[in-house]
Amino acid sequence: MEVDCIAERQFWRSRYAFVMAAIGSAVGLGNVWRFPFVCYKNGGGAFLIPYLIALFTTGIPLMILEFSLGHWARGSPPYCFLKANKKFEWIGWFASLAPFVIASYYTVVMAWCFAYMIYSIDLRWGSDANLFFLKHFLNATRSPAEIGSIQIPVLLGLVVVWFSIFVILYKGVSRIGKVVAVTVPLPTILLVILTIRGLTLPGAMEGIDYYLTPDFSKLSHFKVWLSAYAQVFFSLSLAQGILITYASFLRKESDITNNAFIISLADAGTSFLAGFAVFSIVGYLSLMKGIGIENLGLAGPHLTFVTYPTAISLLPFGAWLFGMIFYIALLAFGIDSAFSMIEPLATSINSKWKFSKGKATAIACALGFLSSLIFVTSSGIYWLDIVDHFVANFCLVLIGLLECISLGYLFDLKKLREHANEVSDITIGRWWDFLIKFVAPLSLLTLLVASVVENISVPYNNYPTWCLLVGGVMPGAMIFILSFIFANR
Ligand code: PHE
Repeated sequence: MEVDCIAERQFWRSRYAFVMAAIGSAVGLGNVWRFPFVCYKNGGGAFLIPYLIALFTTGIPLMILEFSLGHWARGSPPYCFLKANKKFEWIGWFASLAPFVIASYYTVVMAWCFAYMIYSIDLRWGSDANLFFLKHFLNATRSPAEIGSIQIPVLLGLVVVWFSIFVILYKGVSRIGKVVAVTVPLPTILLVILTIRGLTLPGAMEGIDYYLTPDFSKLSHFKVWLSAYAQVFFSLSLAQGILITYASFLRKESDITNNAFIISLADAGTSFLAGFAVFSIVGYLSLMKGIGIENLGLAGPHLTFVTYPTAISLLPFGAWLFGMIFYIALLAFGIDSAFSMIEPLATSINSKWKFSKGKATAIACALGFLSSLIFVTSSGIYWLDIVDHFVANFCLVLIGLLECISLGYLFDLKKLREHANEVSDITIGRWWDFLIKFVAPLSLLTLLVASVVENISVPYNNYPTWCLLVGGVMPGAMIFILSFIFANR
């Protein structure tokens, strides 16, 4: 592949479209169900210190790196890396395939949100949201080893989600620009509404206290710092080929550095706001039920599909409406992250094998839909947990590290800095090289080693070893090998 073969290069209509699309990718389910919980677990208000340090020393510099590479090389991620060095094409493939794996389960969580949006109408979960979620809705088996059958309501939601992704992507980036003009501001407004509703409930302040009371002693814990880096990394959609692909659609004279700051700060701000929406209502629930906040179940799916619906049902008026608002917000936050995960692969297929954009998108979506099916079975929730844990903790961090090393050491990094400075409002100095060459790779390497050690010493969530191998190690190994195969074709 000597030249990028995208027949007709497409462009964002405006700077606004690009910034919105990148914010859309960054802001997603992670902001609503991951950040508030991670923050409260790791020192509350004090967590903002490691978080902001991670954001400024690793998150934003890497975002500038990815934007500069995409904008300088103007092509799909494999092409961009190839242009940097003949030997690097596989890194681009690796980075395009990893978000594809994330999409396979991310879309299933969106399918749950879709079902719950409809269930909100009559508060279908009744008085025991936990029982409803696990037994009636998911029909969950006891372990991932018992696969179980496909759950039809989830499958229906999944079809809707994948079909939407296809419709949004197949026409190219001008349509993405139109979609994100709605799917970014809309859920943000809804989140503000939910926050106001939450804060005006009794017990809200206790919830916020829980969320933000700073515990500075936590800052001496190594794990708190790791959590901060991992959260920044996941939330900004770094190391996924996404930002590279999006930047490749920018016109020649487009700002890079300032945009990276705007996007990162918008993402961090949304996370912070989501904490108020979530913890105010959790405080209310705790007051109404007389259960301590720490016993309410605040992580991931449990927060979204058990704790939150329970609280919604207790609202004095308009319970169904606030339920719908919450799930519509999640769907709108999620959809632009979901399609951004498919875009790098679709662009890479389009560019490498000269399929039309429509065909390449259809191939990527069909494969994505098929890989989602395992998560639609009764054991899906366990597989989702396993795949998410390993891909988010290993693949993402590994790709970030590969980017820093390949571009920082085996390429003339100065070229990218000068490129960014030529087009940007804000110029970056040699300090940026230092961050990309030393600070970022060192933090990522630490993160990677710590995760490996932890996962070897304690099997994740006590799942059977073969399940961890199949769900955790296999997808990563497969896309790693595929990257080399694709690069050598
Ligand atoms: N950043 C998204 C979120 O917070 C998730 C995501 C991860 C999107 C990786 C793309 C790539 O939900």
